[in-house]
Amino acid sequence: MNNIKNIGDKTLKKWIEDDKYRKNLAIKADQIRREVYGDKVFVRGLIEFSNICKNSCYYCGIRAENTKVKRYRLSVDEIIQRARFGYDLGFRTFVLQGGEDIGFRDDDFIKIIKDIKDLYSDVAITLSLGVRSKESYKKLFEAGADRYLLRQETSDKDHYRALHPESMGFEQRRRALWDLKEIGFQVGGGFMVDSPYQTTEMIIKDIRFLQELNPAMIGIGPFLSSKNTPFSSFPNGSYTKTLRLISILRILFPKALIPATTALGTIRPQGREEGLKAGANVLMPNLSPKDVRGAYSLYDNKLYTGTESAEERDLLSEKIEKIGYRLAVDRGDVISYNKKTRRYD
Ligand code: 5AD
Repeated sequence: MNNIKNIGDKTLKKWIEDDKYRKNLAIKADQIRREVYGDKVFVRGLIEFSNICKNSCYYCGIRAENTKVKRYRLSVDEIIQRARFGYDLGFRTFVLQGGEDIGFRDDDFIKIIKDIKDLYSDVAITLSLGVRSKESYKKLFEAGADRYLLRQETSDKDHYRALHPESMGFEQRRRALWDLKEIGFQVGGGFMVDSPYQTTEMIIKDIRFLQELNPAMIGIGPFLSSKNTPFSSFPNGSYTKTLRLISILRILFPKALIPATTALGTIRPQGREEGLKAGANVLMPNLSPKDVRGAYSLYDNKLYTGTESAEERDLLSEKIEKIGYRLAVDRGDVISYNKKTRRYD
């Protein structure tokens, strides 16, 4: 594990598949994270503003064709209100995440971004709005948005086709990631671990794609089956493989912001803590209005109480300190970020 830049496919395959490497991978990953980011864990207030979506990804519980979900959409004012509430709780990054809801126009997002930025000069805004045009991304960036999360989901074209309906383009999604990067967003990619039909070779392709993209953020979590979807009978992804992959990503991307995701916390009660110990350095507690948290149901049994909830920030802080880390109270940009030029490398 000495030459971390040049890890070949064979080694990656072993690390991904064999749990005997987990412990050593985690030790190495934690060492790297401490060298780069110290003991800081960054928190983001996650505002799930709408579960209405025009797409029908086969894995996703809020897919358009699922008629069993109760749909909701927050108003522009409600979203801003959630950010105000979150700021008072100590959050300095807000993640606006929703289905691809065409009820929201660019101007709506621009208003939300500008209003939040006018209220608070020390916050970052992360968007997670799916695939949009370059023009739209540009407007959102110019309005003041800082980061954009768009998991590539898979870097294998045939696999992409197996996970998504024909209307969703593999190339378009990739294009979107490159557009975001070029515009200047701190960009985030990622994928699910053990999504249906995924092979180790595909995961390695994802890693190679990420090495090309050099994202500021990488989000991974286990695939979790979701009722009323075409993939409802596929098994959940592997918890330990997800942990090994978090470590591998930390080793390959020392500067990346890597969350211990809600999916990881859903599959195991200690999942998020273990994710941090394996090399993750971001948590995204839920800041959505309490009555909609259950309806943003990408998968079954989603965790949204306890320390998964933004209101429990103090409790979260205690828990994190117990395992040897510290909650940061700043924006938590990628370490190489230059605030003036809004660029990173
Ligand atoms: N299990 C795990 N993760 C899921 N996502 C969507 N559906 C599921 C599921 N069933 C992930 C996707 C998406 C992110 C917001 O949530 O990777 O990009």
